[in-house]
Amino acid sequence: MRSHYCGHVTETLIGQEVTLVGWVNRRRDLGGVIFLDLRDREGIVQVVYDPDLPEVFETASSLRGEFCVQVKGLVRGRPESQVNANMTTGAIEVLGRELTIINKAEPLPIDFNTDVSEEQRLKYRYLDLRRPEMAEKMKFRARFTSEVRRFLDDQGFMDVETPILTAATPEGARDYLVPSRTHKGQFFALPQSPQLFKQLLMMSGMDRYYQIVKCFRDEDLRADRQPEFTQIDIETSFMTAEEVMAVTEAMIRTIFKKMLNVDLPQFPHMSYEEAMRRYGSDKPDLRNPLELTDVADLLADVEFKVFSGPANDPEGRVAALRIPGGASLSRKQIDDYTKFVGIYGAKGLAWMKVNETGKGIEGVQSPVAKFLSDDIVNAIIERTGAVANDIVLFGADDAKVVADAMGALRLKAGEDFGLVAEGWAPLWVVDFPMFEKADGRYYALHHPFTAPRDMTPEELEANPDTALSNAYDMVLNGVEVGGGSVRIHRAEMQSAAFRVLGIDDQEAKEKFGFLLDALKYGTPPHAGLAFGLDRLVMLMVGAESIREVMAFPKTTTAACPLTSAPGSANPEQLVELGIQRIPAEKAE
Ligand code: AMO
Ligand code: AMP
Repeated sequence: MRSHYCGHVTETLIGQEVTLVGWVNRRRDLGGVIFLDLRDREGIVQVVYDPDLPEVFETASSLRGEFCVQVKGLVRGRPESQVNANMTTGAIEVLGRELTIINKAEPLPIDFNTDVSEEQRLKYRYLDLRRPEMAEKMKFRARFTSEVRRFLDDQGFMDVETPILTAATPEGARDYLVPSRTHKGQFFALPQSPQLFKQLLMMSGMDRYYQIVKCFRDEDLRADRQPEFTQIDIETSFMTAEEVMAVTEAMIRTIFKKMLNVDLPQFPHMSYEEAMRRYGSDKPDLRNPLELTDVADLLADVEFKVFSGPANDPEGRVAALRIPGGASLSRKQIDDYTKFVGIYGAKGLAWMKVNETGKGIEGVQSPVAKFLSDDIVNAIIERTGAVANDIVLFGADDAKVVADAMGALRLKAGEDFGLVAEGWAPLWVVDFPMFEKADGRYYALHHPFTAPRDMTPEELEANPDTALSNAYDMVLNGVEVGGGSVRIHRAEMQSAAFRVLGIDDQEAKEKFGFLLDALKYGTPPHAGLAFGLDRLVMLMVGAESIREVMAFPKTTTAACPLTSAPGSANPEQLVELGIQRIPAEKAE
């Protein structure tokens, strides 16, 4: 039906007949001449109709926005004065000779020139995606995906599909369950990731696997979290952590060069401990120069319990955040920061404005100065590197609260003070603890199949608190874009890890018996990683949320306004599945 895409009609086609199809982006009647902006996926081209073909002219006059049409015409150069340098097709126009209305369009239910709610955009996503900026994002994503495939195919990675109807895979979120009709009362779980299958593929000798695959997680949604999202899932045999990091880093580097012409800087390797200490986060945004400074040792003996309490508590932490030029903050702004850290559980935000250094209490202004000595004030100033006109903010609490609150404040203050550099700041975060402790039990920080660093199963069970894992996360501009690890490849180690996690041998056999069995038959050492494809594309196109780079995302309450999913099942279906609904009040 077409000879060219609208967006591809350029000077090289001058003098040629073209047949175009697309949508009416805009129609203008200019004293006897009709200008039509015709749009398709590849761009917009100007078509001109003049009255010497009265029938065609009349059809052109009847066009409205978003009519779907076919145009035949002659490409000609625009007069010098009308050349539009901002459009790829801006030097030409098509003199319309024929015009067919393929399909009319009713006036659109939303006006994209005004503020449209995201809910509305998602309800009419097919119209939203017609907008050139959205089409660009979809095209970028498609190219990105094919670059990923090209790289991995070239490196000998093999694309293998894994089941979507499967058993629970523990990645730390809730499962989406699918009831089984043939096994009444039983459920499949949708995979939170293909983790166990890719490990089994290594046991099958596939050596290098990849898959661009949907994963499903029922968790609280945010700008960079969706209930179903796409991973670039990778697993390798006989490769060390360093080798996996090298090949996956090379992939990201290659794609940034090809698609954005960006040479990414070196990826520093930073331990989890250092990231938490300096940035209060395991995914630090290194474009932001602000850092946390630990000062508990300086404040252990002060009378002020808010400081000395956490300073003397092994689980506590006292951290300072120096903001250059921050003495300009008003009381109201400090109050706003105090409220902000409150979101993360901080009970307050002590502060100290520096007027003059080396002068002890006299040189600063602070509501807590009265609890401090000259030596302590000087030591804090020296350690944080503060100078006149700076402010030092303090968080004192449980170590986790301090990291969360002061880490978030670091990001906010960096933005507020315009300190965040442009560009790309990638890094690897390594040496994660194997486990974190909450409610008196251990949870895997990565997942239960991650190998510890340099430990025997006996040592792991004896020292779960200090065990480090052989895991690595790739972080880019403060976003965790990927994570992986060396896996446990021996049954004794896997059983030990399960026991630390409170999964006894009986439960392990029931839930993961197939894995423990498979580990008996000559399992190769293996390691891998998964990237969040949506997150990488979001960062590369400069979008604020992964929803902007997904064709049909869900709302933040995990619903789809377009299809109205999730919906209720009809009663017969439920009977067939052997499922009875309990009233919402009881389900609460
Ligand atoms: P992990 O759980 O870290 O690891 O996930 C890998 C990457 O997937 C992305 N991601 C998400 N993206 C959008 N929405 C979500 N809800 C979401 N959850 C995760 C992140 C993350 O870095 N099986 C392991 C990988 C491995 O060990 O090889 C896994 O799934 O970018
Ligand atoms: P208060 O003695 O509670 O009035 O607090 C004195 C100062 O300490 C105020 O600036 C509070 O914001 C601050 N503050 C209180 N609790 C904390 C805390 N846990 N961490 C840091 N500062 C705090």
